[in-house]
Amino acid sequence: MLKIEQLYKTYIRAKEFNALDNINLDIESGEFIAIIGKSGSGKSTLLNIISGILTPTSGKIFLDNQEISSLSDDEKSFIRNDSMGFVPQSTVVLSTLNVLDNICLPFFLSKREGDPIGRGKYLLNELGLEHLESSYPRELSGGELRRVTIARALMNYPKIILADEPTSDLDVENTKEVLGILKEINKKNNTTIILVTHDLTCLDYADKVYTMISGKLVEGKSI
Ligand SMILES: Nc1ncnc2c1ncn2[C@@H]1O[C@H](COP(=O)(O)OP(=O)(O)OP(=O)(O)O)[C@@H](O)[C@H]1O
Ligand SMILES: [Mg+2]
Repeated sequence: MLKIEQLYKTYIRAKEFNALDNINLDIESGEFIAIIGKSGSGKSTLLNIISGILTPTSGKIFLDNQEISSLSDDEKSFIRNDSMGFVPQSTVVLSTLNVLDNICLPFFLSKREGDPIGRGKYLLNELGLEHLESSYPRELSGGELRRVTIARALMNYPKIILADEPTSDLDVENTKEVLGILKEINKKNNTTIILVTHDLTCLDYADKVYTMISGKLVEGKSI
């Protein structure tokens, strides 16, 4: 369902370097992939390119046989909002919206038909946040905020979830909870998941593991 071909991202700092160096990847529908790797190895760059937030230097990305890497910014934004659930590395939520409205936001961005509030309340329940419906982000703990970003990622029934270090600031208990939720979504809805992480406990939840080493993606656990 997701195919990546000869993907490069080149940055220029003191000199030119490849943050992504010829990435090739083929992911089946319903697979749960974990990508581990040291800080600075290129994990977030890869997720941000798949989601269309960053543009690759060269290479192609196909989502269900449609080449998404060559689309315009507007078309990429639409696909990101409509078909992808993005859980960013830092928990970005809108501080002026309450929890329910934050979760419903992707619905309103793509102006579709349906019942956003019903869906939002369903997700609040699924993620154990029902008591926080009208609370504001500043009143929530790190683990609760993570769950809000996961609920928001699920709002539009995504085909694929891209999760960048979703457990980085959580304790062991919350880590297990968040990973358990992702696994359940993966099993229940056959949602494809790409999870990027430092945390080796995540590997118990994934079907397949890759390691990012200086911009190259290697199959298996190599750290
Ligand atoms: N805009 C930029 N300009 C130049 N270099 C950049 C830019 N963005 C990222 N980099 C560099 O690209 C490399 C990959 O960064 P990336 O954020 O993908 O790493 P990461 O594996 O996600 O790290 P972490 O585990 O710390 O989140 C790093 O060396 C980073 O400094
Ligand atoms: Mg990162």
